[in-house]
Amino acid sequence: MAITSLRINDFRNLAAVDVIPCVQGLNIIAGHNGSGKTSLLEAIHYLGLGRSFRSASSSRLIRHATDKFSVFAQLLSSGQRDIPVGVERDTHGIVRSRIAEKDAASVAELAYLLPIRIINSQSHQLFEAGPVFRRKYLDWGLFYHFDAFFLCWRQFERVLKQRNIVLRDQLSRQELDVWTAELLKYSIELDNFRRDYINMLQPVLAELTGELLDMRNLEIHYSPGWDDSQSFAEILASNYHQERRSGYTQVGPHRADFDIRLDGISVKHFLSRGQQKLLICAMILAQGMLLAKCVNKSLIYLIDDLPSELDLYSRQKLISLLAKQPTQIFITAVESETICALLNKSDVSLKVFHVEHGNVGAMAKDIASQS
Ligand SMILES: Nc1ncnc2c1ncn2[C@@H]1O[C@H](COP(=O)(O)OP(=O)(O)OP(=O)(O)O)[C@@H](O)[C@H]1O
Ligand SMILES: [Mg+2]
Repeated sequence: MAITSLRINDFRNLAAVDVIPCVQGLNIIAGHNGSGKTSLLEAIHYLGLGRSFRSASSSRLIRHATDKFSVFAQLLSSGQRDIPVGVERDTHGIVRSRIAEKDAASVAELAYLLPIRIINSQSHQLFEAGPVFRRKYLDWGLFYHFDAFFLCWRQFERVLKQRNIVLRDQLSRQELDVWTAELLKYSIELDNFRRDYINMLQPVLAELTGELLDMRNLEIHYSPGWDDSQSFAEILASNYHQERRSGYTQVGPHRADFDIRLDGISVKHFLSRGQQKLLICAMILAQGMLLAKCVNKSLIYLIDDLPSELDLYSRQKLISLLAKQPTQIFITAVESETICALLNKSDVSLKVFHVEHGNVGAMAKDIASQS
């Protein structure tokens, strides 16, 4: 899926923006600080995921002194007709999402249609922050790879909540046993999904880290959320009194995590900031490549401020890798030349947009070839 045209109104400082991006290839969004580059990526992200990647409050996205924003796009679906999609949000918090002239049933419906991955300065949270970010990373991939995953995940969340209420309110053993059986069922299912996904991801990631970091032996070390030298059922049984005292479910898929290791040592202990960024790019690209290969779905990459933290050599390697991806990529940079100068323009579809005070214009002179 790719965006063939994009219209943004009153989103941050973007009052009225029309963009015809290159469908397969690189779209470079260049402009001075504060011009609106990240806002453009944020608008695309909001369209696909119903939330911003930098503001918890969506009302902050509405352009000052206006009362709603909207983002519309035409999506090209593997050779079929364009599908119109859109999202609007007003100051009262009313959100309207549309797909092909009908109201979208849920955010998940748009997300399924428009897979989006962002790489920005917050992506370092994958290493630096808690396991929730790594679970989100895995679950994002699972959502697209396994049809049954989303329902299983939702059931697990529901059961976990109920079981925690039983523990907190000191309800009967009988009641607890009912929810424990349910928890076991969905936990094993979730765990299997996550293990299968990691097994598929591992070789793709190793290939990419070989290319970007000269590290081919990186391993994803998965922990399911309990000590897996024992069965989950045994652990729950032996934790009975402890859980009764604490009033919540202490182990399970809601505690799952993974670690990336080289020769048994976690990379978070020795990778430099720039190397971390390259690894994050490899991790996100691996998900996209797997999606294209296994599910025949292409995702849209949003890369905010690609040049930051990377030296010329790393930038060159990353750009060359991105240029080879058969998908749509939006990249921001203060100066377009920091990226364009590294590209062999005859090999890549490229479009450059210049952003100035919230206005976006295509720079014809930089367009090498368009898809
Ligand atoms: N709700 C809003 N209404 C109007 N303007 C806003 C709103 N929110 C943010 N802005 C302004 O939008 C502008 C664009 O911000 P944005 O973060 O997109 O810039 P940028 O081009 O990515 O800059 P940088 O190169 O510094 O990352 C900023 O000047 C910001 O102050
Ligand atoms: Mg920015």
